[in-house]
Amino acid sequence: MSIYETIGGDTSVAEAVERFYTKLTSDPALGVFFEHADVAQLKTRQRMFLTAALGGPDAYEGRDMRAAHAHLQITDADFDLFLEYLAETLAEIGTKAARIDEVLEALEPLRLEIVSAVGDGSDEWGSQDPTGGSG
Ligand code: HEM
Repeated sequence: MSIYETIGGDTSVAEAVERFYTKLTSDPALGVFFEHADVAQLKTRQRMFLTAALGGPDAYEGRDMRAAHAHLQITDADFDLFLEYLAETLAEIGTKAARIDEVLEALEPLRLEIVSAVGDGSDEWGSQDPTGGSG
């Protein structure tokens, strides 16, 4: 059974996205990212994306993750906070801790595509890439 089915399918993903956006937009550090976003469209795409990412029917039609986030200057700390809210949201809709860990693990590789800014200096982003750090 996919994670998608285990957490309750479409209804649960839709509810999760609603709750998740309330958290993101209320956060003092992350809210600013969403001020100019088309939140309705974003929710629809997040919903499709999460459905596909969790092993449900694959119908994602949005931009790829690098293209969607390149202009936002997202840091590692932002990304961590984002996943923290996602984990919190999944717990609220009744997802077991082990499943939440699986979801976070599945999304973690996207950090490389989504994070494009150096945050507090605690990371090594692009420091020693002889090719110029295109990827
Ligand atoms: C695993 C982590 C993430 C996933 C799976 C994800 C997923 C998505 C998806 C599916 C879209 C819609 C793409 C489109 O419009 O075609 C999107 C857009 C966006 N995301 Fe993310 N995202 C992630 C992390 C983040 C983080 C950390 C932030 C900011 C703190 C963020 C802020 C935004 C914003 C502001 C947009 C709208 C951009 C625009 O339309 O100009 N995302 N994201």
